[in-house]
Amino acid sequence: MEIIIQPDSQQGSQVAARIVARLVREKPHAVIGFATGNTPLRLYKNLVRMHREEALDFSHVTTFNLDEYVGVPAAHPSSFHSYMWAHLFSQLDIPNGQIHIPDGMTADIPATCRKYEEAIKSAGGIDVQILGIGTNGHLGFNEPTSSFASRTRIKTLTEQTRLDAAAAFGGQENVPSQVITMGLGTILDSRMCLLLAFGKKKARAIALTVEGSLTASVPSTVLQLHPRAVLVLDKDAASDLKMADYYTWVYDHKPDWQKS
Ligand code: GLP
Repeated sequence: MEIIIQPDSQQGSQVAARIVARLVREKPHAVIGFATGNTPLRLYKNLVRMHREEALDFSHVTTFNLDEYVGVPAAHPSSFHSYMWAHLFSQLDIPNGQIHIPDGMTADIPATCRKYEEAIKSAGGIDVQILGIGTNGHLGFNEPTSSFASRTRIKTLTEQTRLDAAAAFGGQENVPSQVITMGLGTILDSRMCLLLAFGKKKARAIALTVEGSLTASVPSTVLQLHPRAVLVLDKDAASDLKMADYYTWVYDHKPDWQKS
């Protein structure tokens, strides 16, 4: 794991944006996995700015989102479809046919999940999967006890996750209980995992992810098995890490060719 600790979410988001931009410049047909939530919003703002001001070209990029709520139409203001269009896709030049988000309204969830996995495979696999993290260590919507080998499927949310999403739905009682999410095995297949975490409320989940034992009870610990997991944190999210000084030293002393 590479742990990058930045003073705040603004600088962390810039580092993450540079990593994504470098990939897109080196590989115009890159496949990018996107995440939702508050955490990647500044990253997306940076990507939009780079597209406008630095001619960062997304027209050949293919995208796959991590997850979507079951029973929530794409046009619903709290759907992840709406989120992605509002914050990113409406401002980039990715053709619609290259954008993939699980269909929460499908009549056949297993078939939809199977096709999603097939689409990722036929696109050549995900080059970089952007990730946030739940307060309980979930990735996408892979709640605690999700199998490390899981693929795209239906999941039921924990009460904590529904509570965390309450504001977006105007109350916990309105948050759907079921979702379609890429599995941990799907995420692990990405060539790079780029996880962002900002704020004190993520500190415990981050400490368990980086320095805890591998366990399905903390799904994000699966990243310990990934050959290229990069975690971009602000100081607060990094505040429970025992080896924070070491990670900072490593990052500050990287050879130039390795810097992003
Ligand atoms: C949801 C999403 C996750 C995201 C998490 C954290 O559960 N499915 O992909 O990482 O929220 O959200 P936030 O970034 O708002 O803390």
